[in-house]
Amino acid sequence: MSAKVFATILAAASVISAAPFQPRAVGSSKGFKLVASIAGASKDLSVPIQGAYLEGAHVGAGLNTAVLNATTQGTIFYQNGTAEEVQQGLSTIVSDGGTPLYPYGLRAYLNSTDAASPVALAINGGVGTTGVTLTKPASGPGELEWGAASFIACDETLLYYGPDWRFAVVKDLVASPAESAVPDNCVQINLVPLCTTLNDLPPGSVASHEFANEVACYESLSDIN
Ligand SMILES: *[C@@H]1O[C@H](CO)[C@@H](O)[C@H](O)[C@H]1NC(C)=O
Ligand SMILES: *[C@@H]1O[C@H](CO)[C@@H](O)[C@H](O)[C@H]1NC(C)=O
Ligand SMILES: *[C@@H]1O[C@H](CO)[C@@H](O)[C@H](O)[C@H]1NC(C)=O
Repeated sequence: MSAKVFATILAAASVISAAPFQPRAVGSSKGFKLVASIAGASKDLSVPIQGAYLEGAHVGAGLNTAVLNATTQGTIFYQNGTAEEVQQGLSTIVSDGGTPLYPYGLRAYLNSTDAASPVALAINGGVGTTGVTLTKPASGPGELEWGAASFIACDETLLYYGPDWRFAVVKDLVASPAESAVPDNCVQINLVPLCTTLNDLPPGSVASHEFANEVACYESLSDIN
């Protein structure tokens, strides 16, 4: 090949290698799903974690333990609160469920006897826990936060479903997120928003989207994985 052609190829190659990473497509939406992204060391668990959706596993009337599921469509959430509440980090994360549609809030509970012990999150009928909401980085989508808590997903059974059904149970690890604090059957995760449409509520709904906020979110799962 001629020196000139070679130089042209080199120039083209350097343009390619100097190009930034494919930018992750970021949009904004009132509705979003929460998708798990492994934050710490990956582990060989019997349930999928990376790219799985946060949803509730029914464990009683109006009570759902927060789990991850990679094969379902995921739950549609919205960030509920006034502009002031959002500004102060006092908004909540809510979904709609039941008939007529009723709000189901994302709830985090402290362990009353051992505040450092990880406790399962829940998606229960009623309001969400104030401050379990999305972070607000200067640009781009935030992630789920609750004070200094780190979220973990644990390969476990749920009493309600018996010993044979493994779930990816989402908990908050109130203690320091040091790897050593993450139990062997759990991985540390971030929960990030994936844009989706927040449908209008049918007449007669108890839930309301009046205080649903527009949030920054990723446009597709591949932008998260
Ligand atoms: C949503 O936020 C508004 C404004 O703070 C509040 O009045 C309403 O009760 C909230 N709804 C839920 C389900 O938390
Ligand atoms: C609270 O923590 C104690 C001590 O670690 C533990 O035995 C108990 O099961 C925890 N309770 C819940 C609801 O997780
Ligand atoms: C995900 O949901 C499907 C359908 O409900 C269920 O069969 C499957 O066991 C669930 N997976 C996990 C890990 O919970």
